[in-house]
Amino acid sequence: MLSAKDAERKGLGRTVETSAAEESWALYDREQMQRRILFSLFALLTGGVVLCCVAGCRSLPPSMPPSQWNAQEARGAQVFEQYCARCHYATSTRGKHGPGLQALTKLRSMPSGAPPTDDRLTDVILHGHGMMPATALTDSQLKDLLAYLHTL
Ligand code: HEC
Repeated sequence: MLSAKDAERKGLGRTVETSAAEESWALYDREQMQRRILFSLFALLTGGVVLCCVAGCRSLPPSMPPSQWNAQEARGAQVFEQYCARCHYATSTRGKHGPGLQALTKLRSMPSGAPPTDDRLTDVILHGHGMMPATALTDSQLKDLLAYLHTL
């Protein structure tokens, strides 16, 4: 029920003789307001959770620092410098001529939507893909490069 104080705050003034009709109106108002506030809170919370999810998915695991590369990964980095670096950033998702390759093999899919398996990478590298030209590599260059791509 509406207390005298509430009625005063709401500016109903006549605290003693507030009619039943007025009282129920004020009550209805307050309930509606509460429902609105609850709904807003709920919307904010849901929005927050969705935002966090999106941000969380975007924050990629960091690339392995060069000091931790093994010999094969270091050789692969040289192959990358020679054949890929002019079109791709390795440790960023920023695009150059092609997409940035940070965390490439840790993602569920590559920009094309294909999973970043070694088979698929080999195919893209040796045969090209869309605007990306094919690159002719020896077997050992390819193996080194794949090892390096896994450090990104
Ligand atoms: C002349 C520029 C160029 C060079 C050199 C190049 N790329 Fe690309 N790369 C691209 C472009 C452009 C795309 C986007 C292709 C598309 O989907 O149309 C791409 C896409 C890719 C993709 C994503 C494929 C997918 O399925 O989404 C990978 C992985 C990749 N390149 C790796 C490499 C590697 C490794 C090398 C070195 C052997 C390399 N690229 C050399 C331009 C290049």
